[in-house]
Amino acid sequence: CTLDIELEQIERGRFEHFMLKEIFEQPESIRGTMRGRVQPATGTVLLGGLRERLDDLVRSNRLIFVGCGTSYHAALACRQLVEQLTELPVSVELSSDFLDRACPLFRSDVCVFVSQSGETADTLEALRYAKRRHALTVGVVNVVGSAIARITDCGVHLNAGCEIGVASTKSYTSQIVAIIMIALLLSADRLSKQTRRREIIDGLAALPTAIERVLMLNDKLRMLAVGVLRDAVSILVCGRGYQYATCLEAALKIKEVSYIHTEGIHAGELKHGPLALIDQEMPMIVFATRDNGYEAICNAVHQLLARGNPQRMIVVCSEGDGHFFQGLGVGTTLEVPHTADCLQGVVNIVPMQLIAYHLAVARGLNVDQPRNLAKSVTVQ
Ligand code: G6P
Repeated sequence: CTLDIELEQIERGRFEHFMLKEIFEQPESIRGTMRGRVQPATGTVLLGGLRERLDDLVRSNRLIFVGCGTSYHAALACRQLVEQLTELPVSVELSSDFLDRACPLFRSDVCVFVSQSGETADTLEALRYAKRRHALTVGVVNVVGSAIARITDCGVHLNAGCEIGVASTKSYTSQIVAIIMIALLLSADRLSKQTRRREIIDGLAALPTAIERVLMLNDKLRMLAVGVLRDAVSILVCGRGYQYATCLEAALKIKEVSYIHTEGIHAGELKHGPLALIDQEMPMIVFATRDNGYEAICNAVHQLLARGNPQRMIVVCSEGDGHFFQGLGVGTTLEVPHTADCLQGVVNIVPMQLIAYHLAVARGLNVDQPRNLAKSVTVQ
């Protein structure tokens, strides 16, 4: 037992908890996911695990991503890009709901099973269901040799390294990178997509450095967690487009480790209910980094400022935009490096992971093993 404790301390290195260590590992874990696969010099992506089935993948009629929790959010974060690059219909399913509905599947469908552990019962059951219906099955899995990695027809390992904290952090960012690599591979021969592919490949190459810069906000985020958020009863996280998935994932991170009710909201839905929740107490986090939804998200910021407490608003924005939002009265701005729209969520989730972590620590909670949760849910 003493040995176990000492071993754990060695593994955690200079970090007090695995969650913090894994958040800080992200520049490196993302490099691991891309190593030997993304080739910026030639603008190509190589994925050995898909090579033999590449023709079938390219010829498919539909892509269906299936996962639970954070893995589901990672697929959601990539949907728009996968649609854009492959020009195929793309759906993203919760494993449990996919099974409940007995979703119609055909031989021409590709089902992509996203799972850190590769052992989640609902995702595994959904995979067996897809195999019975002869869809082509692809795994996006971290744990080598896991059930989902073994049973799928082909796949991509995350190579993100072992994740121990129950709340998934580095797996989320690596899952997004892995799915984006798949989309790049499937669109390699499409002439009309080359400029867009180039932009993304360059963005991928610069991503680890962008994350390193966000990690430098750690002290500011700790103060924010302790000063503004610690005693909140509820927190709203709002965004749209590529940042909608970031909202859901940020809310999941905060609620699972800090036990504060947190809700991710699509900015387009604010007027359809959530605005009724806004009062002077409610902290509001808004993702307003630059992309083609920038004007619409600025409108949402105005709507929230008019109804809530500006001092309790936190805006995540692109570098150089902080003054603008402060000028509107926003209490806290977090400037993050700008990247390609489909990669911005990888950058934007990092400050939220750190906020969740510091909230849990400030509230004296068990960060690495939140109550009632398990790292791998192997029963349905
Ligand atoms: C559990 C974990 C989550 C994870 C989810 C899916 O709920 O606590 O962090 O996102 O399972 O797990 P998987 O291993 O399939 O990605």
